[in-house]
Amino acid sequence: MTNQYPKDLVPYFFGQTASTYDKIVLFTTFGKDNYWKNEIINKIKSPESILDLACGTGILTRKLAKKFPKSEIIGIDISQDYLKMAEKNSSTFSNISFLHQDAENLNLDLKFDCICSSYIPKYCNPEKLVKNCITHLNYNGQIILHDFSYPKNKIIKKLWNSYFVFLNSLGIFLPTWKYAFAELPKVIRSSNWVFSYKQELEKNDFQVKVQYLTWNSSVILYAEKPQSTK
Ligand SMILES: C[S@@+](CC[C@H](N)C(=O)[O-])C[C@H]1O[C@@H](n2cnc3c(N)ncnc32)[C@H](O)[C@@H]1O
Repeated sequence: MTNQYPKDLVPYFFGQTASTYDKIVLFTTFGKDNYWKNEIINKIKSPESILDLACGTGILTRKLAKKFPKSEIIGIDISQDYLKMAEKNSSTFSNISFLHQDAENLNLDLKFDCICSSYIPKYCNPEKLVKNCITHLNYNGQIILHDFSYPKNKIIKKLWNSYFVFLNSLGIFLPTWKYAFAELPKVIRSSNWVFSYKQELEKNDFQVKVQYLTWNSSVILYAEKPQSTK
């Protein structure tokens, strides 16, 4: 993976994994994915419209639709396979729609009360993503970004590294996930997404809050769009 821009890995990670994603994310995070997504949702204040950036198979999108049944919810993703799965799994919801878009070149001609996202920051350019979020966000609208992070504590770091060695071996039995299990820890270790997104948002006058979860293995960064921003 050396010297690769994380976005280049997206087709390899998500090319053939849509049908098994929901089970894998729950199993590999020991169910914490559910808790982390609930923490995202707990931060949202009665929105009329929500954008789920990089919605994948729509796990977070459906949770949002359940929690805010009167809100209009749009999920966007760069992977057609993941979007197909999201549409299939969300057919009973009348307040969700899905669109094929690249978050780094987002162009929806719409503004939202909340833009949230789980597991996209590390793959994207912070400057581009923040700029696009600002363009698509109403004043006082919320931006909530969640992703993995590399723990700081020495003991937790050792456990985290050993866990990914284990996942790497598990890849033998899950060939479509083998590459992601091998490369994901490198992406997480080398990413400083929390710092760079916080800095980018602060440049645009957002007051950013940061929540560290599960021994710092996961982080939520959140802020509201100030009236002063373009
Ligand atoms: C780990 S999955 C997360 C899916 C979902 N957010 C969740 O939490 O279950 C990452 C998703 O990000 C999407 N993705 C990565 N880069 C993207 C981009 N630039 N624009 C839109 N989607 C992107 C991938 O296609 C994939 O569906």
